[in-house]
Amino acid sequence: MSSIDSKPPKLDIKYTQIFINNEWHKAVKGKTFPVINPSTGEEICQVEEATRADVDKAVEAARKAFDVESPWRKLEPAARGNLMRKFAQLLRRDIGYLSQLETLNNGKAVEDSKGDIYASADCIEYYAGWTDKIVGETIPGAHDQMIFTRHEPIGVCGQIIPWNYPIMMMAWKLGPALACGNVIILKPAEQTPLSALYCASLIKEAGFPPGVVNVIPGDGPECGNAVAAHEHIDKVAFTGSVEIGKKIQEAAAKSNLKRVSLELGGKSPLIICEDADIDYAVSVAHRAIFTNAAQNCTAGSRTFVHAKIYDEFIAKSVELAKNRVVGDPFDPMTEQGPQINESQFKKILGYVESGKKDGAKLECGGERAGSKGYFIRPTIFSGVKDDMQIAREEIFGPVMSVLKFDSYDDVIKRANGTNFGLGAGVITKDLTRGMTFAQRLQAGSVWVNDYDAVCNQAPFGGFKQSGHGRELGKYGLEAYYEVKTVVVKLV
Ligand code: NAI
Ligand code: MG
Repeated sequence: MSSIDSKPPKLDIKYTQIFINNEWHKAVKGKTFPVINPSTGEEICQVEEATRADVDKAVEAARKAFDVESPWRKLEPAARGNLMRKFAQLLRRDIGYLSQLETLNNGKAVEDSKGDIYASADCIEYYAGWTDKIVGETIPGAHDQMIFTRHEPIGVCGQIIPWNYPIMMMAWKLGPALACGNVIILKPAEQTPLSALYCASLIKEAGFPPGVVNVIPGDGPECGNAVAAHEHIDKVAFTGSVEIGKKIQEAAAKSNLKRVSLELGGKSPLIICEDADIDYAVSVAHRAIFTNAAQNCTAGSRTFVHAKIYDEFIAKSVELAKNRVVGDPFDPMTEQGPQINESQFKKILGYVESGKKDGAKLECGGERAGSKGYFIRPTIFSGVKDDMQIAREEIFGPVMSVLKFDSYDDVIKRANGTNFGLGAGVITKDLTRGMTFAQRLQAGSVWVNDYDAVCNQAPFGGFKQSGHGRELGKYGLEAYYEVKTVVVKLV
């Protein structure tokens, strides 16, 4: 049994400054901010805080790196791919240190950190393979015309990422942007800047020219907003809350109409049909919500279960949830570490109270684990109704809400009755039924007999207010190039 008391290893924190032009900089305004270990609530270190003036510096470096005669622009596409492959290799080389750093800063179980880093290296390599395959079309024109398209990099891309998958969100953002030949200003979340800063040193070691990737730690309202509102940033990509996604789109519109891609939250349904293998369904539903301490945009947070198997599903799910190992994320046996910070911790416990008040039945959990850090016991509510707050809002914490259904037509309507549309799942042995769900569920990804089966080669993103644009796969490139039409008159 893992202990709740975390004994973090003594890690040498090597990089705490702002990374611009392949150099480390102090903040222009001389400010720093504390980075907290969520397992203990204690400070790990101070990091230089980028503000608008530092964003301006990064933009200047990035614009220079994107100059048409720059070393980066003159690289052969395949050579760009080689730099990316080198970066992926360095991620794998340093996985020991990097996984500990990620766990120290984010609190995720160290085995999960390793999984994230391998997946990140794979993502960078996947996109490295695209560099020399980003092709346009030839288009039929008049007899004296030659028409073709070129897919050209957009330019300086701002990338604002969240704290739940710090390294992986960086990889998802850098991969397609670099493959297309863009330059980048990446703002990690203020809660988790450490792994992105370490990765910046690997970018330099891999041999990327100065200014191609810049990493600016800072907060949302000042630093993130300066990116979204900047007149000389050509595109902004964001992963995070719907609330901030809307602000970013607004800031982009009010400044220079920069391109925007958004990957936002969800309240994703997982539907367990009466013919499902119950043990399998219970394990999928458990993983769907509790993975990564449930700090997951695709979390299967509305578990719809057919009335005929409802009681058995609840009993087995409660048993599994009670056995989930919550504790020191550095212990390799641990399955679930702490929530990211005090405000998320309090917000989640507030949702637990609202579930109880609204009349859902608390089957297990619902409370803090341990006495320090931000650990919450895996929580299950049964008897959840569609209009309860816990069934409508993104909790981003280890709370499974189980809803009952008995009509398939009805449950599709209920599953779709939300402003979100990121993921959805269905567990059934009847593939016709599974395909009917796949056709009718309003979500960017639908998993049949699985959940959250995300892979680098398949697109990922949201319907409705879960965002627009796609990440990963070939579709993920579309967010990072402009299409230029060239018409040549054959005179
Ligand atoms: P957030 O959306 O405020 O933060 C995400 C990123 O946006 C961070 O880098 C932050 O610094 C930046 N940001 C914040 N305000 C900004 C602004 N005005 N302009 C530009 N950038 C800004 O998310 P937060 O507050 O950390 O978490 C709140 C809720 O958001 C969570 O409970 C969860 O529901 C949702 N969330 C969803 C994520 C996802 O993967 N879709 C990831 C993180 C949070
Ligand atoms: Mg916020």
